[in-house]
Order: sequence, then C-alpha cells, then structure tokens
Amino acid sequence: MPIQTEVKNWKKKRKAVILAHNYQRPEVQDIADHLGDSLALSIKATQTDAEVIVFCGVDFMAESAKVLNPEKIVLHPNLAAKCPMAAMMDVDGLKELKQEHPGAVVVGYVNTSAECKTEIDICCTSSNAVKIVNKVPEKKIIFVPDSNLGLYVQRFVKDKEIIFYPGYCPTHVEIRKEDLLALKQEHPDAETMVHPECSPDVVDVADFTLSTEGMVRHVKESTKKSFIVGTERNMIYRLRKEIPGKNYIEVPAAICPNMREISLQDVLIGLQTLQPEITLSDETIRRAKIPLERMIEAGRGD
Ligand code: 13P
Ligand code: SF4
Repeated sequence: MPIQTEVKNWKKKRKAVILAHNYQRPEVQDIADHLGDSLALSIKATQTDAEVIVFCGVDFMAESAKVLNPEKIVLHPNLAAKCPMAAMMDVDGLKELKQEHPGAVVVGYVNTSAECKTEIDICCTSSNAVKIVNKVPEKKIIFVPDSNLGLYVQRFVKDKEIIFYPGYCPTHVEIRKEDLLALKQEHPDAETMVHPECSPDVVDVADFTLSTEGMVRHVKESTKKSFIVGTERNMIYRLRKEIPGKNYIEVPAAICPNMREISLQDVLIGLQTLQPEITLSDETIRRAKIPLERMIEAGRGD
C-alpha cells in the first residue's frame, strides 16, 4: 500500500488533523490538511475538533499548538526539527533583559520556546509584527528574539523605543543582497519577495517583504508572471502547486535543514504510535497561552 494511503487511513483512525508549515518537504505538504505560515497554523490549531494534531513544522510551532489545545494530543513527528533562532534565547536571558528595562513591554516573535513565552507579554509573527508593535500602547518595547524582524518593524514604528535581542535566522541571513541584485538583473520583469527575517540590506533591494502566507496572497493578486522568492526554497513547491503558470526563481542558500527533518515515514510512525507527543506543564501552558491569545485577539476582525 502506498505510504500516502497508510497515512490517510491512520489519520482517520486517530481522528487526526495534519498541519504543515509552508517550508515542509513537498511530500509532507501533499498529505497536509492545512498548509500555512506560523500565524495561520496557530489559528487553525484553535479551530480544529480533531482529537490529535500532527504538527509538521519546527518545535516552537508544535509547542504553540499544544499550548492552544492542552486537552488534545499534539504530535511532533521528528523532534530533530528544531528552530535554531528559537534556541538562541532562553528564559533566563529574557528575564535579565526585562530586569534591565523595567516597564518595557515584551513583544515576542512566535519563534520562541513555550518556556520563553511565559515571560512574553504579546506574541507576533512575521505577518502581523508591525501591527502588533503599533497596537501596544507602551512606548518602550523589548522585541525578541529576531533582530532582523525587529529592525524591519522599526521602519514602520516611529514613536517607540525598541530594544533588540541579538537573535537571527541562520537560513535567512545567508540570503545575500548581491545574489538578489544579480537575479533581478537576469529577470528584470520579476518581482522580488523576501521574508522579514532577511538582513536589512536584503530587505532594501526587495520589492515586497512578506510572511510565507503573505507571499502566496501576493502572487495570487499580482499581475506579474515572474517572482524571485527570497525564503526557504520549499515555499516554491506550494506556490507552483497552488498558483501554476507563473515563474518562480530560487535564491541561493535558502535552505532550512531543520524544517526538512520531518519525513512521510515520521508522520506515519507518529500516527501509529502517537509519539513523539508534546508535553508541557500546566503552569507553562497557562502562562504561555496569554501572549498567544493576545496576538490572536489583536487580529480578530481583520
Ligand atoms: P512564517 O510565519 O512567515 O511562515 O515564518 C516562519 C519561519 O520560521 C520563517 O523562517
Ligand atoms: Fe527557524 Fe529560520 Fe528555519 Fe524559520 S527558517 S524555522 S526561523 S531556522
């Protein structure tokens, strides 16, 4: 029996839903019930009535699904799929930063551990970071952990002091301005989209800076035929499948090995054994839920 059919059968047996990030391997994207960026998947995780959530993405995403669904079984099919940016900050480092800046509000990118979220006031993702920072009434903001996303946000926030943490995405900082400029010269009719985790000089030469779901929306709406895609290359699989007939141009170095850890076999074994399961203490769930729910609430009515 093909592995896809086995996954389908076990999914039914377990009353499970498969959520997958846009950077997952093509074969994993193909068996997902929902594909999306961090925000879309967080929201999907609050809307499912499945008994089991199989989260195909990196560690912090699966943890967020558990925080938002404590009563459900949340499986993370391969525990090696960890986000190195999220691992750059621990809860003690964050507590120290808060002590240095009393009264500042902590806006935390979802790319943080559940434990760090217990010390965060409100979460954001790459698709809503500008809006969230602008909505926070306080003038002093600690933005963690991605300094590049923080610098991107600062372009649109004039009346606030932003304190940065020196975290970054090892994949997106490898995308080089020189490579983008060369591609733009080679494809003068193409629009260039980059992720806000890219360095500021890369953002400067791009036409659009977007979350992964924002890229899907943009390509659907654009009259252009060609797009330089400045993010993890598996993104292009989703774009080609959902919006065929357009030309997608890869940029060098854009590979996140962590996002590619999860295989179809891992998903099948996860469904069969109900392992590896995400477990978090009740106290972590209670406290980490607050900034995530504030973020989701801030986006209602959009
Ligand atoms: P998105 O929320 O834009 O999908 O980004 C998540 C991520 O980890 C990008 O590196
Ligand atoms: Fe983390 Fe970067 Fe990979 Fe996204 S692309 S999961 S931020 S390492």
